[in-house]
Amino acid sequence: MTPASTAPVANNLDAFFMPFTANRQFKKNPRLLARAKGVHYWTPEGRRIIDGTAGLWCVNAGHGREEIKAAIARQLDEMDYAPSFQMGHPKSFELAARHAALLPGDLNHAFYCNSGSEAVDSALKIALAWQRARGQGTRTRLIGRERGYHGVGFGGISVGGMVNNRKQWGVMLPGVDHLPHTHNPARNAFSRGLPQHGAELADELERLVALHDASTIAAVIVEPCAGSTGFLPPPQGYLQRLREICDRHGILLIFDEVITGFGRLGTAFAADFFGVIPDLMTVAKGISNATVPMGGVFVRKHVYDGLMSGPENVIELFHGYTYSAHPLACAAASAVLDIYRDEGLFERARELSSYWEDGLHSLKDAPGVTDIRNLGLAGGIDLDGRKGAPGARGYDTFVKAFELGLMVRQSTDTIAMSPPLVIERGQIDEIIDIARKAIAQAA
Ligand SMILES: Cc1ncc(COP(=O)(O)O)c(C=O)c1O
Repeated sequence: MTPASTAPVANNLDAFFMPFTANRQFKKNPRLLARAKGVHYWTPEGRRIIDGTAGLWCVNAGHGREEIKAAIARQLDEMDYAPSFQMGHPKSFELAARHAALLPGDLNHAFYCNSGSEAVDSALKIALAWQRARGQGTRTRLIGRERGYHGVGFGGISVGGMVNNRKQWGVMLPGVDHLPHTHNPARNAFSRGLPQHGAELADELERLVALHDASTIAAVIVEPCAGSTGFLPPPQGYLQRLREICDRHGILLIFDEVITGFGRLGTAFAADFFGVIPDLMTVAKGISNATVPMGGVFVRKHVYDGLMSGPENVIELFHGYTYSAHPLACAAASAVLDIYRDEGLFERARELSSYWEDGLHSLKDAPGVTDIRNLGLAGGIDLDGRKGAPGARGYDTFVKAFELGLMVRQSTDTIAMSPPLVIERGQIDEIIDIARKAIAQAA
């Protein structure tokens, strides 16, 4: 007789408590994905969906890459797992050296973890530990930005600035403050590339320094382009100004490149695109093309060196994860780097970005579109929301798009898109065409 715990059960949707999902609504009208290849998904019934979002901004090299599969399989045969605490395995060191070679400036050390959320919490901890190691232990305050998304750890939601991700969790981390967000459609609506107005918003950091004093501030964390809130490229000159102010006051600058890292803007990292080198950079998603969960914090030389203090037999950073630098993730990430290099995918994204920009902005005349913005192979479209029902229009547009064969992201009444970097021009046309229909049908 089959033991009760392994007895077959009817396939219903009840048991899975879905993340970031309206569970009851979804389970009444599910959207299931069963197969993926290239830039497409297929539903269990075989309906084809074009992937306008690279999964969740993560499948940059497209789905079902044989080279990554082979690398993971080889690693699984060779060694499934090895701890990274007081032990090591060759692939982790090899990968870190490859990342260091790809990164700009002296961002040449890599700390690995398993997600963007872990990367953010790790970066915040490294920043606090570094300030303390250099004798500035009073610098404990962390500065984020309104509308920022930095994952779901307590550190990440504390510095994050999206209200629905914060309001359920009480006080979170103490001693956090926020810069204002940079979205200003009154001055910048329908910007192509970087919005012209708003660099002065970086000066708000000077106001926070005047309020709290620099001696209490450890680090500032921003996404170079805010992603989850609906894709907001920074105003021209903004990130450069933030860098200058941080330097002036001994504050570490952290770029959360979980979305912008690995080619989204047509350069390896947003730091390359903007010519601004942060002290720490968080990554995930495109690092492994989403095949095996992985995240990382890239650290500049002075930060790493600053932590390599004290007696040599003492652990410098009491932080890490069982699966830090998991061999399967390292194998996948290395194979992904080969693909990015061999297929020139970052350059490809750069070449396609003006075609993408033209396509996106052609939606300007669709019903109720109030703003469109873009950079690299990403973009956001604001829709006029329905009175008294924030998010309803955005959700309906997302559902319509899915029914018509396109996957988009929705945040309140904003639609965001970020296709895999292997997308073809004709497929961009298809995405824009379906988006236009979905926006009209959900108006
Ligand atoms: C900028 C940014 N940081 C952090 C995260 C969190 O990553 P994860 O969902 O892998 O924890 C995300 C996820 O979308 C993100 O966009």
